[in-house]
Amino acid sequence: MASPDVNAFFDAATNTVSYVVADPATGQCAVIDPVLDYDAAAGRISTHSVGEIIQFIADQNLSLDLVLETHVHADHLTAAPVLRKQFDSKIAIGTHIKKVQKVFCDVFNLGDLATDGSQFDLLLSDGDEVPIGNLTCKVMHTPGHTPACNTYVIGDAAFIGDTLFMPDYGTARCDFPGGDAELLYDSIQRIFELPNETRLFMCHDYKAPGRNEFAWETTVAEQRRSNLHIKDGTSKESFVEFRKKRDSQLDVPALILPSIQVNIRAGDMPVTESNGVSYLKIPLNAL
Ligand SMILES: [Fe+2]
Repeated sequence: MASPDVNAFFDAATNTVSYVVADPATGQCAVIDPVLDYDAAAGRISTHSVGEIIQFIADQNLSLDLVLETHVHADHLTAAPVLRKQFDSKIAIGTHIKKVQKVFCDVFNLGDLATDGSQFDLLLSDGDEVPIGNLTCKVMHTPGHTPACNTYVIGDAAFIGDTLFMPDYGTARCDFPGGDAELLYDSIQRIFELPNETRLFMCHDYKAPGRNEFAWETTVAEQRRSNLHIKDGTSKESFVEFRKKRDSQLDVPALILPSIQVNIRAGDMPVTESNGVSYLKIPLNAL
């Protein structure tokens, strides 16, 4: 089986892992879930983190065609437009982004925002295949955390977004609008059906209790054997009951309001006002 070169970039501020996935034969690559730095207190954005990825691509003589979003993130702003501008690459996300845009257009009262996904260059559906050099990125629609979540299977590696976390940390929450624990269970069963040795790459890590290092790579076999929330033999009923109870106790993510209103625009900021400044909205008592 083809095996891409995978390089991870961990963003400690948001516990997010971005990846550069390269075809060793051609040097074509994709970037998955790039992070835009955002200082919430100051309302200041910067490109230090994605700058490291840009530098890496240049140093390795790679060619970037594709930026893949696993979903509309609620914990960080995407840096996809920075990469699109730098490399003329395309930004891709799951086709069900339209559903997410409709929900949050209402929350943020963005009446003029198109909800057809047209801010993105490619809308990917289950079963779609996109080339990365001689490699193929196979799209699996894996909803549950959000309606638009995709897993990207590239050779022997799968980028599973927010479905499973590392085995000692469990699974992603399902309480955002459009989230569904039953759907997440079904999506995880599909991930479990990938070959046992498939390398699985997480979107986040928070260090499980007792673990001192951040980690983001495991295998299908390891998840099926030992995931804290769902493994071989876990029933849908018990998983859904557990997930709902757990979600009812979780705090709202710190950056959910800025993140979502930017990420549903494929990372573009709201149009600047007459003074040349772009503003984000804070809806009161809406979430
Ligand atoms: Fe997420």
